[in-house]
Amino acid sequence: MAADSQKWILMATARAPTNIAVIKYWGKRDENLILPINDSISITLDPDHLSATTTVAVSPSFEKDRMWLNGKEIPLSGGRYQNCLRELRSRAGDFEDERRGIQIKKEGWNKLHFHIASYNNFPTAAGLASSAAGFACLVFSLAKLMNVKEELGQLSAIARQGSGSACRSLYGGFVKWTMGNEMSGRDSIAVQLANETHWEDLIIIVAVVSSRQKETSSTSGMRESVETSSLIQHRAKVVVPSRILQMEEAIRNQNFSSFARLTCADSNQFHAVCLDTSPPIFYMNDTSHRIINLVERWNRHEETPQVAYTFDAGPNAVLIAPNRKVASSLLQRLLFYFPPGPDNELHSYVLGDKTILQEAGIESLNHIEALKPPPEAKDKVPAQRFAGDVSYFICTRSGKGPEVLMEEEHALISSQTGLPN
Ligand code: DP6
Repeated sequence: MAADSQKWILMATARAPTNIAVIKYWGKRDENLILPINDSISITLDPDHLSATTTVAVSPSFEKDRMWLNGKEIPLSGGRYQNCLRELRSRAGDFEDERRGIQIKKEGWNKLHFHIASYNNFPTAAGLASSAAGFACLVFSLAKLMNVKEELGQLSAIARQGSGSACRSLYGGFVKWTMGNEMSGRDSIAVQLANETHWEDLIIIVAVVSSRQKETSSTSGMRESVETSSLIQHRAKVVVPSRILQMEEAIRNQNFSSFARLTCADSNQFHAVCLDTSPPIFYMNDTSHRIINLVERWNRHEETPQVAYTFDAGPNAVLIAPNRKVASSLLQRLLFYFPPGPDNELHSYVLGDKTILQEAGIESLNHIEALKPPPEAKDKVPAQRFAGDVSYFICTRSGKGPEVLMEEEHALISSQTGLPN
């Protein structure tokens, strides 16, 4: 029994979504606690298409904290991981499983080590907010394992210390990160504005743009902006506060025109702040700019916004359509201008909810070949097509927040060895 009691391994597995900001977080007032200089608002994306799954395990036989990301061991020594672990350990509760003879007292968690395995269901290298889903999932699964009895809002304040945008991934639907005023960061938390059923018609298409260059990380990019840009101060103090109110109202009333205007304007201002940084930071590339032009031309032609676009710290476009019909027209336009490269197949070029593709009448590469330029294209100049400039598209929607996965089959760590499966 004594030997056995040293062998036990306790585990929890959870899945957490990514999110895309429609009013951007850019700039910190406290680098260590990760406190922002303005509020931000995001949409949580459907975890079936974009999420992190994390298994956390604890055992008296583990000698140190270890972590594996997509099967590869990574160091856990970083301050951000340590801050999250410390916050969670200090809030841990008693745990008891009489049947297995396991008892962990609150204070006991300080002496135990964790094995953590995490996996993204989308390519990490694609630059799709993997740290947001990752830290949200880490905090959510550890809180479950350690019997932390905090509200989601307080868990979001812990996830925030892993990566700012991660705090917004603790909820589904539409989420606001309120910057807060306190020095401790206790009030810098995420709140849900509306759940994922509130505005169900929205369709989101992510264009993963091929890029050869390594971008400046958000962390150092925003530090440089705070140090050198004067536009960022005006943005944080004057522009964002009023946009936040307008965006909340647009979401509440499902006012797509207002939502789209605010989303595009805020993305463009964030990238203007990047240009106003010294030296300037370029996150978007020619393909990103072409996608903006495509949408702007179409919106102007229809005299009311059809689609919204937003870009984070990289060239990928996130496009939001008010319904499936507009989304399938959007996909036709995207596939016209950005057909797959020679080695691609349709099923690996459009991922996620493929029913949009069917509704767009595209069932084969030949259908893409045969697409006509959209009516708003300038008819004097023959339209240019840019094969291979987009790596792939993901069709998705707004989705739910983190959830515990109960079934053993989801676990990424073996309950026998305590190592990744
Ligand atoms: C452009 O959350 O990745 O995506 O807090 O330093 O980890 P750190 O930065 P991060 O920044 C995200 C910036 C953004 C906008 C946003 O998501 O609001």
